[in-house]
This record gives sequence, structure tokens and C-alpha cells, in this order.
Amino acid sequence: MAKDLINVGLIGYKFMGKAHSFGFVNAPMMFPDIKAKPVLKAIVGRDEPAVREAMEQYGWQSFETDYKKLIARDDIDLVDIATGNNVHAEIAIAAAEAGKDIFCEKPLAMNVPEARQMLDAVEKAGVKHMVNFNYRAVPAVALAKKMIDDGMIGRIFHWRSVYLQDWIIDPDFPLVWRLQKDIAGSGSLGDLAAHSIDLANWLVGDIDEVSSNLTTFIKKRPKLAETTGGLSAKGGADLGDVTVDDAIIALTKFKNGAIGTIEATRFAAGNRNGNRFEINGDKGSIRFNVERLNELEYFNREDPDAYQGWRTISVTEGIHPYVQGWWPAGHIIGWGETFVHQVVNLMNALADNEMPTPNFRDGLKVQTVLEAIEKSAESGRWEKVVSE
Ligand SMILES: NC(=O)c1ccc[n+]([C@@H]2O[C@H](COP(=O)([O-])OP(=O)(O)OC[C@H]3O[C@@H](n4cnc5c(N)ncnc54)[C@H](O)[C@@H]3O)[C@@H](O)[C@H]2O)c1
Repeated sequence: MAKDLINVGLIGYKFMGKAHSFGFVNAPMMFPDIKAKPVLKAIVGRDEPAVREAMEQYGWQSFETDYKKLIARDDIDLVDIATGNNVHAEIAIAAAEAGKDIFCEKPLAMNVPEARQMLDAVEKAGVKHMVNFNYRAVPAVALAKKMIDDGMIGRIFHWRSVYLQDWIIDPDFPLVWRLQKDIAGSGSLGDLAAHSIDLANWLVGDIDEVSSNLTTFIKKRPKLAETTGGLSAKGGADLGDVTVDDAIIALTKFKNGAIGTIEATRFAAGNRNGNRFEINGDKGSIRFNVERLNELEYFNREDPDAYQGWRTISVTEGIHPYVQGWWPAGHIIGWGETFVHQVVNLMNALADNEMPTPNFRDGLKVQTVLEAIEKSAESGRWEKVVSE
């Protein structure tokens, strides 16, 4: 049902909890044409003093210490899942059964069967669902999509992506949840490559086959003594096993004949959040680097020979996707704003009674590629992406 206000309940109050709160607070302020306004009804965390503090800091009206209590509340329309990956499925399935719409962080699930169950549950319940592949909501990436759809790149030959971070090179960095398979599902694969895979599926087309290599450079790390959330933590004296990949490289074949590479690592010194891609087609090329978020590079083969070269488009004009909500031309925006854009997309879809994108179907599609990459690394062979 279309309505003017959407009552939101957010589960998880750390890194993504804060980013999602930023999105809900700022979307109606910066985008006054938003079709439904989020109401920050309740935030959930298991540590009462910490969740109370988050409630006050981020501007939520109330808190719960058990997500089941949130889902049971009649005054919640939308459940937002910003927890570690191991509880996405149980929360999403319970929320769907209670008739709530759902916004869920990526990767959608721990594996393909879980993602499949989640999609089945939301479809059976007839609720709306969205997965937060927020890099689609970067203005420069949305412009790249428009240029591809408008035929400016032509027939695509190549996808080339790297997602490079460097926060666990130190062997003393402790065993946070992102390094434990039972909570994270996988390492750089589900955390970083999942974003690249979603962009590749969206911008180029469906991935059909992969040949890959996964590795774990540091196999034991100090067990966690203290965590401060997000990517920072301190270790104790005991060591524990790292049970996820540290780095992955995958060759990809797309259904439309394009080929590609996907690399993701947390061991690329000097790269804090180097999410980059390049696409080459018969009419031209585009490339993007999230650390230069307001720019899109474009090479047009049809430019006169004498003037050919890469141009850098400053994606800050009001005519560019999402930019009309922000500042005058040249007054750049940042990473946090992608969460505002996702909230605008989600609220508009809910108000129009339409399914938002990317949704659980896109999340499941990414999961099938993640699974094929793991399978190929094990078998040493090309593996088909089994579409669900
Ligand atoms: N879209 C992006 O750019 C992006 C970036 C970082 C993380 N993520 C994703 O967001 C999710 C959360 O990551 P994060 O970096 O915020 O982690 P985090 O460790 O900073 O926060 C996780 C939160 O989940 C809570 N939580 C865990 N289990 C819970 C439970 N059973 N009930 C209630 N709360 C529970 C924790 O208490 C904490 O508040 C993950 O799925 C991750 O992959 C997405």
C-alpha cells in the first residue's frame, strides 16, 4: 500500500547501522520530492547501553534489544538488516513472515541455499525487498549505466574490476567476525567481490562461467579482545584460525560474450577502499574509481583522431543521476551519500507499490557467482554459474 510515512526498524547500530541512519535522516532533507518519508521508529542492538546511545546519537525514537521484539511490533513497516551476514536470513525470513518490507545489507546471505530461502520467503509473503548494493547509487556509476544503455559504449568486450583494501596486512590484526566463515560466509569474496559482481551483472550482463583462485595469506590471528565496530579491533594473546579467503581473483565469461576479471583483496597496501572498474566496448570505454567518486572517465572512439583521449567527466551537475538533490555544480559528494540515494530509491518504490532494485533476486544472482568462484578455486576448473 502506498503511504506517506514508512516506519523503519533498523537492526545493527555499528558501521552500517550508522550509514543507514545517515541515509534515513538525510534522504527527506536533500530530496524533498521523495514519495514517502522514513520515520526512524526503532533501532535494535543486543547491548542495551550501546544501543541506547546509538538511538540518541542517530535520532531513533526507541530501541529494542531483541530483533524478534522489533518484528513483532505493529508500528514497524520496514525492517532494515545491518547485521553480520550469519543472521541476515533468519531475520529476513521472520520479517517476511510478519509481513514487513525488508532492506538488507549485502552479501544477501551466507550461501546460495540461504539466499534462495530468503527470496522464497519474501515472494511467498508478497513483501517488498531490497539489497544494499549501494555502489549502483554512486552518481558516476549510475551515469555509466545510462551511457551503456544509451549505446555510447557499444558492444561490450571487457569488464575489469579490482576491489582493493589493506586493513588486515598486519598479522597481529585480530580475528574479527569478517575473518570467520561461520559469521561472514566468506572473506574478501562476499565482502568486496560481491559489490563488483553486482556491478558487472548490472552494467555488462549476467556472468555465465568463472575460473578462480582464492587464498588465505595469514592463517592464524589473535583472538578478539576488544572491538570498536566497523573495521577496527584489538587482539589478545590466544591465536585462532582464519577461516575465510584473504584475496580472490576470478576470470569471468559473460552470457553475452564479454569476458572479464574480478580481483578482491584486503592485502593491497596503500589501497583503503579501491573499488574500481573499467569497461571496454566497440564505441569506447569507461572507468571508475570510488576513491575519485565524483568522476567518470570516458574514452570515445568516435572522437576525431586528432583529439582522441580520455576525458574526465565531473559528475556533479544537476543533470546527472542523483545530483539534483545535492549542492551546486562542482560541490562534490561522498560515499555516505550512496546510502541516502538507496533510501530515496527504496521509499519511492514503496510509495509506488513497486519492487525496489537491486532486490533479493539480484542478491541471489550475486550469491550464485560467489558460489561458482569458490567451486572453481577448489576444482581448479572453469565452473558454470548455476542460475537459480
Ligand atoms: N554496503 C556496504 O558498502 C557495506 C559496507 C560494510 C558492511 N556492509 C555489510 O553490512 C553488514 C554489517 O556490517 P558492519 O560493517 O556494519 O558490521 P559491524 O560489526 O560494524 O556491525 C554489525 C552490527 O550487527 C549487530 N548484530 C549482529 N548480530 C546481531 C543479532 N543477532 N541481533 C542484533 N544485532 C546483531 C552487531 O551488534 C553490530 O551492531 C554486513 O552484512 C556487511 O557485509 C556493507
